This record gives sequence, structure tokens and C-alpha cells, in this order.
Amino acid sequence: MKATAKAHTNIALIKYWGKRNEALILPTNSSLSITLDKFYTTTTVEFNKEQATDEFYLDGQQVNEKEQKKITKFLDVIRKLAGKQEYAIIHSINNVPTAAGFASSASGLAALAAAATKAIGLAVDRRMLSQIARRGSGSACRSIYGGYVEWQKGEKSDGTDSYAVPILDAKEWDLTVLSVMLESKPKKVLSREGMKRTVDTSVFYDGWLQSVDNDLSIVKQALAVKDFEMLGTVVEKNALKMHATTLGADPPFLYWQSGTLEVMEEVASLRSNGIQAYFTIDAGPNVKVLCEPKDEQQVIAALNSLVAVREIFVCHPGPGVTYVPTSS
Ligand code: ADP
Ligand code: DP6
Ligand code: CO
Repeated sequence: MKATAKAHTNIALIKYWGKRNEALILPTNSSLSITLDKFYTTTTVEFNKEQATDEFYLDGQQVNEKEQKKITKFLDVIRKLAGKQEYAIIHSINNVPTAAGFASSASGLAALAAAATKAIGLAVDRRMLSQIARRGSGSACRSIYGGYVEWQKGEKSDGTDSYAVPILDAKEWDLTVLSVMLESKPKKVLSREGMKRTVDTSVFYDGWLQSVDNDLSIVKQALAVKDFEMLGTVVEKNALKMHATTLGADPPFLYWQSGTLEVMEEVASLRSNGIQAYFTIDAGPNVKVLCEPKDEQQVIAALNSLVAVREIFVCHPGPGVTYVPTSS
């Protein structure tokens, strides 16, 4: 009745941006990400007949009622599948900043899905685990696998064909992802809220939908032939289009801050000096810079010279979900 799992975050190269079904977390478009070695969550779940409710501790602290409810709603999905009605004590440690645009919801919900299904005795394969993790946070479905991963949006209304599939192993292509943490205020619009407002109101959302499939096919082509320039060029364009949709929303919003632009400009200047570097940005001000490992030190040095840069986390493609032995 007790299990521990570890899952890593992922950074989307082609963004998931919009839901066609909010309750089941079904996306409007397919997406593709790299699972990262540096950032992860470790979660232990113990179901117990004596528990009257779920109890969730994040980094040693019991979370507030709103967060608690999210966890219970997610565990209800697993309880229903398992046909059991027991509550759990959950301890989770984030080795990643929480809710700061570093994809803690991806590693957090993937680790919880893996630990909870195992603890409750529900035998699931990776595909099913990916579908379950998706119900907690869309991006979490991709963190079940390591390396380069596609979340296929699926066509069905019940979501049984909406899950992640591994595209390329981590060890097949080593790229550097620099997670650049800026001096920044916390994000005001959570990903969930931001994508909903965009789908509901953005006059630019159609442009996103019309072009995202083509971006995805170019990324898959670039992965197949390991063409970094082809990959980086389309990854940057895709991120810019996603962020453009937020400007066309009502009320409009923008995740970027001044430091975000400073990093974007530095990346452009590196490229004009012949170094292949490209940026991508999730729902927050922090920037992720992609480069080849041979250029890593030079790119880090250039970014470190910017006043807005607080810290750079050097990431590479990392592993999928693993189970950790638990004591007792
Ligand atoms: P991020 O950029 O960190 O993914 P989101 O707004 O998408 O930000 O998600 C943050 C939310 O993810 C948190 O408010 C919490 O509900 C959930 N979350 C983060 N870490 C964990 C964890 N370890 N276990 C369960 N849920 C988590
Ligand atoms: C911009 O997976 O955090 O990072 O499904 O509502 O939990 P919910 O949202 P989440 O959204 C991630 C959005 C993104 C792009 C991406 O990771 O693909
Ligand atoms: Co998230």
C-alpha cells in the first residue's frame, strides 16, 4: 500500500496550448518535449484504511485547502479505476521551483500518478500511466518517458487515445537545455488559466491552430536526421506564436518580463556570431536556451553577463518515471 516514484520535468519544443475538454484534459493540438535530467519530483504515497481524507505534504509542508482538493480530485480518478475507496498520505519533494514556469506540474503529477497507481495495486502499462498523469496536468503525460516525447492529442472524446509516446531516446541525441532563471516576480496567470483565456478569447488562436501541426512535423523531421538548426529554428518560432496568442486574448496578458527580452536578444546576438543557440519560453518569464553541448560553455558565459540572469541550470535529456524502493 506504499510506493515511491521519481519523475523528471520536461520542456516543450512544440507547445501544448489549449484544451478541447477541460475535465479530461484533452488538448487541441499535439505537442513534443524533452524530459530534463536536472529537475525532478520524488513522491511517496501510502493508502491507509484509517485515513479519513487525503493528506498532502509538499517539501515537508502540508499544502492549503485548494491544493489539497486538486490532489484528492486526481486521486479519485485512480481510486475509481482501482475500485477502492481508501485515502492516502502523500509526501512529495520538488527538486524544481514550484509553479514558477519550470514545469513542476509535469514532474509532480507524473510522480504522483506512478506512486499512487503502484501503492493502490493498479497494474498499468506506460501508456495507461501517461493517460492517468494527463488527468492531473497535461504536460505530465509526457514526463512518463525519458528523452524526446510526443503527446498525441488523439481524436476520441473519452481521451483513450490521448497519451504520450517516446520518439527518441535521451542517449540518442545529447542537446543542452539551459534553464535561465531571471530576477522575476511570480507568474500572475497560471498555465491552466492562461490557455483557457486564450482558447476562449484570443483573435490569434486560429493562427496557432493552423500552424502547429506543421511545426510539429518539422521538429520530428529534425529529430529523425538530428539537424539542430532545423530543430532550433522551428522551436523558437513555435514559442513565439504561442506567446503571440496571449496578446490577442481579452483581457490580454504577457508572460514576458524585461529580462526575458534581454535573454532573447542575447540568443539572437550569439547566432549572429555563428553560435547556434535558440530560445523557448513556457508560461512564465524564464527562458530555456537550447544549444549543442560543444557550445555550452560559451553560451553560459554570454548569458551570465546579463544583469537580469540570476541562475542558469544546465540540463540535458533525462529519464522517464522510475520507482524507488520504499522502506517498510
Ligand atoms: P509549473 O510551471 O511549475 O508547471 P503550473 O502552474 O503549471 O506551474 O503548476 C503548478 C501546480 O502544480 C501547483 O500549484 C501544484 O498544484 C502542482 N504541483 C507542483 N508540484 C507538485 C507536486 N510535487 N505534486 C503534486 N502537484 C504538484
Ligand atoms: C506552456 O500542463 O501546466 O508549459 O494541463 O492545465 O495542468 P495543465 O497545464 P500545464 O501546461 C503547460 C503549458 C506550457 C506548454 C507545454 O508544456 O507544452
Ligand atoms: Co505546468
